[in-house]
Amino acid sequence: MIDSVFDQDYLRDPHQVFARLRHEGPVTQTATGQGVKVWLVTRYEDVKAAMTDPRISKAFRNDPDVFKDYAVPLPAMVIGVPEADWPRMIHLSSTTIEGSAGDPKEVVAAAEETLAYLTDLCAAKRAQPADDLISAMVQVHDEGGRLNETELVSTAWLLLVAGHETTVHLISNGMLALLSHPDQLARLRADLGLLPDAIEEFLRYDGPISTSTLRFTTEPVTIGGVDIPAGQLILVSLLAANRDAGQYDDADRFDVTRKAGQHLAFGHGIHYCLGAPLARVEGAVAFRQLLERFPALELTVPAHELAWREGMLMHGLTSLPVRAA
Ligand code: HEM
Repeated sequence: MIDSVFDQDYLRDPHQVFARLRHEGPVTQTATGQGVKVWLVTRYEDVKAAMTDPRISKAFRNDPDVFKDYAVPLPAMVIGVPEADWPRMIHLSSTTIEGSAGDPKEVVAAAEETLAYLTDLCAAKRAQPADDLISAMVQVHDEGGRLNETELVSTAWLLLVAGHETTVHLISNGMLALLSHPDQLARLRADLGLLPDAIEEFLRYDGPISTSTLRFTTEPVTIGGVDIPAGQLILVSLLAANRDAGQYDDADRFDVTRKAGQHLAFGHGIHYCLGAPLARVEGAVAFRQLLERFPALELTVPAHELAWREGMLMHGLTSLPVRAA
C-alpha cells in the first residue's frame, strides 16, 4: 500500500506538498485518500503535455471498475441528490460530459436519463424542500416563473455540477490572497483597471481546483522521463503546475500586476473549462462590488486558522470570516 500525499499536511498547505513533489518526484506514484493508486504529475510542462496526450483519457465509462473507486460526490451533494443516488448520478454526468469521445447513442441515452432523473428530483424537492440548491431553484421557478421546466433542469445540471463551487472558491481564495497581501490589495484598490490581470493571478496563485479529474493511460506513456504502463490512473495537479518556478518568475509571490494568463486553473486541451468566460465575468463583478462597497475589509481570524475543504480535487475554504473595518 502506497502512502497518500493527500493527508492532513496537504489539507493544511497543498502548495508546500506540491513544491516538494515538483522538486523530488514531479511524476510520482501515490494514492488517493481512498487508497486508489494514481500517478501524480506536478510540473507545468508535464501537466500540459499529459492534458493533451491522446493516450491519456477521461472516458471512464469503458472501464467502470476504475470509476467506482473514484466517485466524486461533491457535485451531487451540492445539487441535493440523495446519497443513495450518487453513483448513478456521477456515472450519468460523466458519460454526458465526456460525450465527445463515446458512442453518440449512449451519450444521448445518458443525457435523457439525467434529464428524467433531475425532473423527478425537482418534483421531489417541490414536495419536500431541503436546504440545497435544487430546492432553491425550484422555488425561483414556482414563485417568479423566471425559468421554464426545461431551463430549470438544464441550468441545475450545468451550473451546479460544473460551476458553482469553483466560482465560489475563485472569489474566496482570491479575497484571502488580497487580505493576506495588503500591499497588493492597496494596489488593486488604487487601480481597478488591474482587475482582469488580478483575476488571472487569483486563478494562478490559489486556484479553486487542486487536481484535475481523473484520467487513465490507454497505452504506455512517458511523462517527465517516467515510464507509465497502460491502464494506470493519472492525476495532474493544476495548483502545482501554476506554482512551477520553471514557468513563472518568483512563482510563490502573489502579484496582481503579473501577466498570468498562461495558467492552467481552467485545465488545458479538449476538456478546457467550458465555463471559463462566465467564471471570469462572475469573478470580475464580485471583486468590483466587494472592493467598491467595502473600502476597508479585514479577516476576523488569522489566516492560518482558516479551514480548507476536505478532499483532493477542490481547493477552497469552508468559510472566510471578514469584517468591514
Ligand atoms: C473559477 C471557476 C472555474 C474553474 C477554476 C473551473 C475549472 C475547470 C477545470 C480545471 C476543468 C477541466 C477539468 C479536467 O480536465 O479534468 C473544467 C471543466 C469544465 N467546466 Fe469549469 N471551472 C470553473 C467554472 C465553471 C463554470 C461557471 C461552468 C459552467 C457554467 C463550468 C463548466 C465546465 C464544464 C462543462 C467542464 C467540462 C469540460 C469538458 O470536459 O470538456 N466551469 N473546469
